[in-house]
Formats: sequence, C-alpha cells, structure tokens
Amino acid sequence: VPEPVLTNDDISKLVDTNDQWIRDRTGIRERRIARENEFPSTLGVEAAVKALQVANLAPTELDLIICTSSSPEYIFPATACIIQDQIGATKAGAFDLQAACTGFIFAVNMAAQAIRSGSIKNALVVGTEVLSRFVNWKDRGTCILFGDGAGAFVLQASDIPGGIMSAVMHSDGSGADTLTLPGGGSHFPASELTIHEGKHFVHMDGKEVFRFATRVMGRAVLEALEQVKMTTDDIHCIIPHQANYRIIETAAKYLKMPLEKFVINVDRYGNTSTASIPIATVEAIQNGRLKSGDKVVFVGFGGGLTWGA
Ligand code: UT7
Repeated sequence: VPEPVLTNDDISKLVDTNDQWIRDRTGIRERRIARENEFPSTLGVEAAVKALQVANLAPTELDLIICTSSSPEYIFPATACIIQDQIGATKAGAFDLQAACTGFIFAVNMAAQAIRSGSIKNALVVGTEVLSRFVNWKDRGTCILFGDGAGAFVLQASDIPGGIMSAVMHSDGSGADTLTLPGGGSHFPASELTIHEGKHFVHMDGKEVFRFATRVMGRAVLEALEQVKMTTDDIHCIIPHQANYRIIETAAKYLKMPLEKFVINVDRYGNTSTASIPIATVEAIQNGRLKSGDKVVFVGFGGGLTWGA
C-alpha cells in the first residue's frame, strides 16, 4: 500500500461527514492514497516483485500475467503489459481482466485453470488500484469508501494436493448501472460534457450494492464449499472482499460463523477493490494467522454486477 494515510477526519474537511458516521456505517478508519508519481503499475510491480521473491521464482519463468484493476492505467494497453515489462517477465503473455472488485477471484480462477489444463506452469495474478483518482471527492456517498493498494499471488503447477480446489464465478449485468464509471469509454467518450457531468467518477447506488452484496456473499461461499463436499466447519478462515464491515458481519450471520473466522482489515485500508483480498491474505500470513495447509475461502462481489468465491 502507498504510504500516505487519509483519515476520516481528513475527509470530514472535504465533505459533510464525520469519523463516527464513517466508522459506524462502514468500519473504515483510514485508507491509503497513492502519491502523484504512483500508478496501478507502480504498486502492482512492487507487489509482483515481492510475490516472486516469496515464491522464489525468476520473472523469466512466468508464462502468464493477469492483472485485474478497477482503475487501470489506460483503456489500453493493459496494465498487465506495463507490469510485465517492468518486472522483466519476457516469456509471459499478459492481459487485464475486468470484473470490478471481484476481479481477483476471477483472475486467480482463470490462472489456476490455465495451469490445470497443462498449457502453462507459472502464473502471476495482480490486483492493483489507484481508485482515488476516480473518486469524486465531493460525493460523501463514495469518497469515504475507497483506498489505493495492490497485491499479488504467484500460482504454480504442483503435485501437492490442494491449491485452488474449487471456484464459482457469477455475473448479473442487469445491475450494471448500480456501480459504474461511465465516462471515457466508447459509450461516453471524454468530452467537456462528460467532465461537466462527472461521468469520469465512480457512481454507486450504495444501498442497492449493499443489498446485493449481503444477498450473494454467503451463498457464494457455500457453493464453493459444496463443489468439494466441505462445510464451513472444514475451513480455517474466510478472506472476504473488504468493502464494508457491516457487509462482512451480515455474511457471517448468514453462514452462522463467528466473525473471528473472517480476516478483516477494512478499518485500515478501506475498499481497495481488486487488491483487497490479496492484501488481506498477505497480512494474515505475515501475522501468523494463515499457515501452509490451511483451507481458506476467498469471496468477493462488485460492479458488473459480479460475485464469486
Ligand atoms: O466493492 C463494492 C463497493 N461498494 C460497496 O460495498 C458499497 C455498499 N454500500 C455501503 O457500504 C453503504 O450503502 C454506504 C456506506 C455507502 C452508505 O451507508 P448506508 O447505511 O446505506 O447509508 P444511506 O446511504 O442510507 O444514508 C443514510 C443517511 C442519509 O441521510 P438521511 O437521508 O437519512 O438524512 C445520507 O444522506 O446518511 C447520510 N449520509 C452520510 N452522512 C454522513 C450518506 N453518506 C454520508 C456520509 N457522512 N459520508
């Protein structure tokens, strides 16, 4: 994550809000904001290099790089290609996958399937965000939520049982308008009007997304478990997309699981979209909460609408 911290008190100087409201409704206390010279590729490269070190793998051994971002560097080329160049992954094919905040789950599944098919051996999956540049800092309904950061996984072919055991991916495009960044694409190409109308910012129907998220999260966890004939009792912990503490709380109730079984760091980083699951995973490993052999469910939801586990 980038170093600069933006607290709730800082935001209360920009819009009509306060620390208490933000903590009560979201669980967020602070988030990180990228410096001017930091981009999704900058943060993504840092995460990628660290992941390769942990995996003890040379970048030239990578066959595939999937980057997923809700705040990509450009419409094209893919942020994945910029990362590929900067880490020196000369052999790897690289592309971006767009599934909003669910991107990391979809990307990990796609990389795992490519490995399982036998066509590749080593893959890098990066979730990276500088969403702060797409947030309307005059809209208190959204600017309190998002933060910047990146995370990365290396996936490798292996005979050891385990790895990505199951996955579910879901979409419902009928909810496309619920969470969107409409400006700058070919539907609303950049113009004075699109800028005037704020189309280059994140637009969200918060209540609707909240309802959707609480409806799908628990179900997706159970679907992923059913595929491998497991129950919530078999898993060590759940690492959910970090959007709102209350959404995670509702999922825990639905699943009849204690909240302690959920890895939660939304208080310190806000919603880092595609980066939230890998950041939370790395923290769980670093603080000893997650060990080799533990069974984990990742679960996420977001624009599209998309959700998966
Ligand atoms: O990756 C997926 C990304 N998105 C999400 O996960 C978002 C899901 N949605 C949410 O997390 C919640 O809907 C929010 C946190 C965005 C909003 O919380 P809420 O409990 O749904 O609040 P609300 O929109 O129903 O607003 C309640 C009241 C309203 O005032 P009135 O009409 O009751 O007088 C709002 O105007 O709170 C007001 N309000 C605020 N007050 C202080 C809305 N935003 C703020 C704010 N500070 N930042």
